[in-house]
Amino acid sequence: MSDREWILLNPGPANTSREVREALVTPDLCHREPEFFEVMRDCRERLVRLAEGGDGFAAVLFTGSGTAAVEAAVSSAVPADGGLLIVDNGVYGDRLRRIARAHGIHAHALAYDAITPARPDDVRAALRADRRLSHVAVVHHETTTGLLNPVAEIARVAAAEGRRVLVDAMSSLFGEPLDITQDGIDFVMASANKCLQGVPGISFVLARRQALDAFRATPARSVYLDLGSHYTTQEQDNTPFTPAVQVLHAMRQALRELEKEGVGERIARYAENATVLRRGMAALGFEILVPDGARSSILTTFKLLPGIAYDPLHDAMKRRGYIIYAGQGDIRKYAFRVSNMGTLTRADMQGVVEAFAASLAELRGAGAAR
Ligand SMILES: Cc1ncc(COP(=O)(O)O)c(C=O)c1O
Repeated sequence: MSDREWILLNPGPANTSREVREALVTPDLCHREPEFFEVMRDCRERLVRLAEGGDGFAAVLFTGSGTAAVEAAVSSAVPADGGLLIVDNGVYGDRLRRIARAHGIHAHALAYDAITPARPDDVRAALRADRRLSHVAVVHHETTTGLLNPVAEIARVAAAEGRRVLVDAMSSLFGEPLDITQDGIDFVMASANKCLQGVPGISFVLARRQALDAFRATPARSVYLDLGSHYTTQEQDNTPFTPAVQVLHAMRQALRELEKEGVGERIARYAENATVLRRGMAALGFEILVPDGARSSILTTFKLLPGIAYDPLHDAMKRRGYIIYAGQGDIRKYAFRVSNMGTLTRADMQGVVEAFAASLAELRGAGAAR
């Protein structure tokens, strides 16, 4: 287990390298000095480069968890006379609805159950039915279950209908392929502590500059989460508020490591991790909740086995150094989640499977002895 105390199988914060954690220890630094702005600019440029956004995109950083970036994008993008079509097939789709409601944004939700990806035809029909819906918001990877939504097809439909798209790619950016420059997509939200393999505290929006420039004409709905003012100040090597200085240093190290590994290679490593996990878990009798074809390579929701409740399984795994993650909402009663993001390797995933086998043997032995 090298320098790790726990193998984190929750979908972020994920395991990081020692160098990322060490980068947190920087000399005390004023956030309005050029030394800080150099780090900020470096991070913003690396994000755009790694996401292959090109000159048309900018990264805007927020000090706050992932929801800060999502709320900033939604509350800033949709104009007062516009509206938001929300794809909802899990907790994070529902969060988009709550954000829209909190900001008084006209919204319509396309609701699916937690294992059904959105259908682009439904998006088209909903946009045709309500001309006021100027934007579409969709979660790329529903971390509730490990479900992937067809973002590329949805963006294509939205663009054809003259609408713009916001993609919550919190738990998928740099872990699943995503063309952020695709026509239709204006905003992609993610955070430092998931597939980027940094530490929590900073989230960001990768945004089309054209869309950001358009904000100048619209009044802000929020003071702290005003995407337009953060963009304008960050472009001038400044910041409207006090950022998480140390977290940004760790993020720069995480970005350097991603550059070194390569985005394609990281995506391939996660896919291999998922394959090793799923094969091993199938041999232990676990079934996957999400149908084949709609699964990400980042997180798997497994159905609980008869006679094995989640809490004892969690505790048995934790005693072995592995942190598994409960299902969200009702799913908690019959399934649990295992993520394979972070610095984990194929060998780590084999270790995960062995730990599950040992935990099951322990729990069944305890059951038999009763
Ligand atoms: C898809 C998705 N969106 C948004 C969030 C919210 O992020 P945070 O908890 O960092 O605010 C998460 C967190 O797991 C997520 O998976």
